[in-house]
Formats: sequence, structure tokens, C-alpha cells
Amino acid sequence: MFPTTRPRRLRQTDVLRRMVRENTLTVNDLIYPLFAVPGNAVAKEVVSMPGVYQLSVDKIVDEAKEVRDLGIPAIILFGIPEDKDTDATGAWHDCGIVQKATEAVKKAVPDLVVIVDTCLCEYTNHGHCGYLETGDLTGRVLNDPTLKLLKKTAVSQANAGADIIAPSGMMDGFVQAIREALDDHDFQNIPILSYAAKYASAYYGPFRDAADSSPQFGDRRTYQMDPGNSREALKEVELDLLEGADMVMVKPALSYMDIIWRIKEMTNLPVAAYNVSGEYSMVKAAALNGWIDEQKVTLETLTSFKRAGADLILTYHAKDAARWLQG
Ligand code: PBG
Ligand code: ZN
Repeated sequence: MFPTTRPRRLRQTDVLRRMVRENTLTVNDLIYPLFAVPGNAVAKEVVSMPGVYQLSVDKIVDEAKEVRDLGIPAIILFGIPEDKDTDATGAWHDCGIVQKATEAVKKAVPDLVVIVDTCLCEYTNHGHCGYLETGDLTGRVLNDPTLKLLKKTAVSQANAGADIIAPSGMMDGFVQAIREALDDHDFQNIPILSYAAKYASAYYGPFRDAADSSPQFGDRRTYQMDPGNSREALKEVELDLLEGADMVMVKPALSYMDIIWRIKEMTNLPVAAYNVSGEYSMVKAAALNGWIDEQKVTLETLTSFKRAGADLILTYHAKDAARWLQG
């Protein structure tokens, strides 16, 4: 009891604080998202995400080199195809934009881990994450037919050289389906990072500008999770573990730190947190107004994800964070 006990004794100097610090952010924790578009020498800034660009494959390669030079171990690729259709052809075609970007990056920067997002919403003309019944205007994606397309997509991404497959569409059974498809094609060693607990979140708004993937009607609430639920997230993770997931993700991160924590407590697999577009844009907007200190707020936020239990953090701040961590 005070005055014998004084917690401030261990906070007196920087070196003492360093010695007793429980969680530390490092560059090894970071994964940087990139958006690939058709064309050459294209770098188009996303209006709602300052500092984030839609990049043609040549520019993606330059960016991948920069990311590698900063010591960031991995990128995650999203694609904006030339054409969209009901079958999401651009997602699973061997000449798809993500397949081309993956091949180019693996050729130029082989030691950089390439994660690919495996979903259909960027490639369907209606913007939903799978097949719809003809004439459906509500967005109730058909689960099992969608699995067939996801298998094709994952296999073509693996063929292109992807190191990790990250299915994000919240279809039931998608981990098992993709695992089977990968194994059937001799890709037993490619891990699956499942977007296990992905919520129907308004924080994805800026991403949908970046990926041009807003649903044309309806919303994603018949497949993404209700923000009011947490036990359901544990159920989703439990199923993904049984289906063979190698890593599980919580998304978004900031409003769902309790979920990160609970999932960390229940599984020994690595847990990833997706610091999503809206979270990034809020920090950027406030910083551009001079209302907050961008560096301090960002590093505090990313460290908090570690404290909550995240082993990996997908974040648009990755390059800045890597630079700040290097001092
Ligand atoms: C699509 C997908 C989304 C994000 C990544 N993949 C969300 C969505 O549109 O539902 C969001 C990422 C972000 O907001 O940064 N399956
Ligand atoms: Zn999707």
C-alpha cells in the first residue's frame, strides 16, 4: 500500500519504461494492402484515403520493392478488373489483374510474402461477394455455388505464385472448400488466412472507393457479421479451425478489440487484425486538419492491437509505421 507501493517507480525513465514494456510493435507485425488496376504507369490516389493509390502492375512492383526495403514482410493484393460480370470472371481468370500482379511481384521481389484476398466483390457487376439468384435485388448471396468460384479463384492465385490465400467473403464452408481445392492441385503448403470474424461495417466505406466494390443494391448483412455479436465470432473461428485455417483474422480492428482478445484466448493460431480503410481515413483526416499527431496516434493504435492479442496487423499505415519505427 502507498506509500510503500509506488507504481511510478518503474515509469521514471525511458530505459526503465522500455524494460517493463509488455507489448512492442515491430515491422515484422505489418502487412501492407495494395490495389492493382489495369494499364501502365497508373498511380491514382484514392480520394477518401490520402496516401493510398490504385496502381498498375509496373507501379505495384516498384511499391513492393519499397515495402521490402522498409523491412515489411508481406503485402496483401486486391484487384480492380477491366470488366465485371455475374460470374466474377476477373477473379479466377489466369490473366486476371491480381494474378498478373502476383506473378510480377514474385518475379521481382521473391522474398516478399504475397497474400491475396480471395473474394468476388471486386469482380461481380453487382458488387456482392458471390453468386446471386437471377433477379435478386437484396444481395442474398448463394453460398454453395459461390464456393465453386472461390475454389477456382484460390487455385488460379496459387498458380500465379501467391504465398498465402486469404478468403474474405464470409461464406459458410469456404475454408474447407479452398483447402480441398488447393490440396487437389498440389498446393498443400500454401497457408489459409481466413477472414474468420468479419463484421458488416460502415468502416469499409473508403475501401469500396479504392476497390470499386460497393454493392449496387442491398448490403452485406446476410453474410458479414452483426456488430452486436461476439460469441458468434468465436463460433466462426471454431468452424474455421476445424476446416483447416492456418491463421484467423478479425475485421475491423479498432471497434472490435474485445473480439481480438477473446479469439486470442481461445486459439493458439496466429491472429490477424485488419486496421480497415475507415479507421485509416479518420486518422488521416484529423491529422491533415492538424487536430492530432499522426505519428503518435498511429503508433499508439497499432501497439494497442498487439496488446489486444494481434500477431499480425494489416494496415494502410504500414510504410509510415515502418519508417517511424526505424527512427
Ligand atoms: C471484401 C473486402 C472488404 C475489405 C477487404 N476485402 C470489405 C467489404 O467491402 O465488405 C475491407 C477493407 C478495408 O475497409 O480496408 N470482401
Ligand atoms: Zn467480398
